[in-house]
Amino acid sequence: MVQRTRLEDIGRLYPVHPNHESVIEDATLVIEEGNIAWVGPAREAPAPTPEETCRSLNGAIVTPGWVDSHTHLIWAGSRQHEFRQRLEGKTYLDIAKAGGGIMSTVREVRKASLEQLVEDGRKRLHRLLSFGVTAVEIKSGYGLSTDAEVKMLEAAKALGDSSPHTVATTFLGAHTVPTEHKAQRETYLDLICEEMIPLVAERGLAEACDVFVEEGAFSLEEARRVLETGKRFGLKPRVHADQLSPMGGAQLAASLGAASADHLEDIDEEGIQALADAGVVACMIPGSTFCLQQGKYAPARALLDAGVTLAIATDLNPGTTCSENLALIGSIAATQMRLTPLEVLHALTRGGACSLGRDDRLGSLAPGYQADLVVFDAPDIDYIFYHYGISHVSEVLIQGVCHYSASS
Ligand code: NIG
Ligand code: FE
Repeated sequence: MVQRTRLEDIGRLYPVHPNHESVIEDATLVIEEGNIAWVGPAREAPAPTPEETCRSLNGAIVTPGWVDSHTHLIWAGSRQHEFRQRLEGKTYLDIAKAGGGIMSTVREVRKASLEQLVEDGRKRLHRLLSFGVTAVEIKSGYGLSTDAEVKMLEAAKALGDSSPHTVATTFLGAHTVPTEHKAQRETYLDLICEEMIPLVAERGLAEACDVFVEEGAFSLEEARRVLETGKRFGLKPRVHADQLSPMGGAQLAASLGAASADHLEDIDEEGIQALADAGVVACMIPGSTFCLQQGKYAPARALLDAGVTLAIATDLNPGTTCSENLALIGSIAATQMRLTPLEVLHALTRGGACSLGRDDRLGSLAPGYQADLVVFDAPDIDYIFYHYGISHVSEVLIQGVCHYSASS
């Protein structure tokens, strides 16, 4: 028998789809076999079929499941001492140059077992779920040896296999040059291009390849070599671009036809136009700007005006932004980047899905989409970002099944 569920009495439903109005009041949504079969105003809903289960949502609001399209969710250890050092005046780059930063997490991840990484990752994934996240991208990049990079990606894959979330994995072997290769960085690039990428691709461990383009990390030329190699092996390029200094990472992402360019606090006019022309998604990471006390947020409005699709992500990681609260990140985006709550919602759902190349199935509430949706105890979307720092989520459904309920 076909499984059909009808959700009724939805106070406001936000479809986040170009062919639909931005909000439907008094909405009904019908789920069939994990997918959306019908959505629209209650007065236009088709008559229920005999086998359908009906549920009233008592005026709650419903959005698509949130898509966190940039995370470093697998790690070991903590970097709270670096948070303290930054509060005392050190910068992110000072700490990295002194052997801390990414390398400090690399040392912990190399020591950790696969099981430990999966278990710690599972707790973070559950916290993301409690804020409405139903799909997540997870990067490697704290292993920086073939074995440890593979271990991280295996942990991310294991999480994806054992949780209802959509999990997309990205190889970030080019996160920084590890200490043992510092004197001969060329040998590390050879290792990435000749050993790690072919192995990751052959074993199907990642669908994308990312590079941190930054002083102290990788130059544009080095990044191009890594990303072009990744492309030859079928890995979509992504770039940590123009985060701490204007390096031209956005232009690189555009010239490679990258899936996304992320961070972009220091992007210039030319970079904005390049992303627009190439149709590259710009992923905003306001949590890291906030936590690094950078002061300068990515120019979200200029990007939108140029016609660039925006995503907003947590960047969940132990160094620059340690929070699973994507709603709080949305509030930071609204206030500091001056985005409307609807623009923020779009970036948290459809924008993220575009960045992951899954906007035909995720990020919108329309017929044919996966029934991933969030029920909020709030009068409208403005309220969620206005009353910040807590979760307003009452229920999260993935493929039509409830996987989180605030009341249990
Ligand atoms: O996205 N920018 C580079 N990578 C991470 C930070 C990684 C770390 O410091 O551990 C980021 O902010
Ligand atoms: Fe990142």
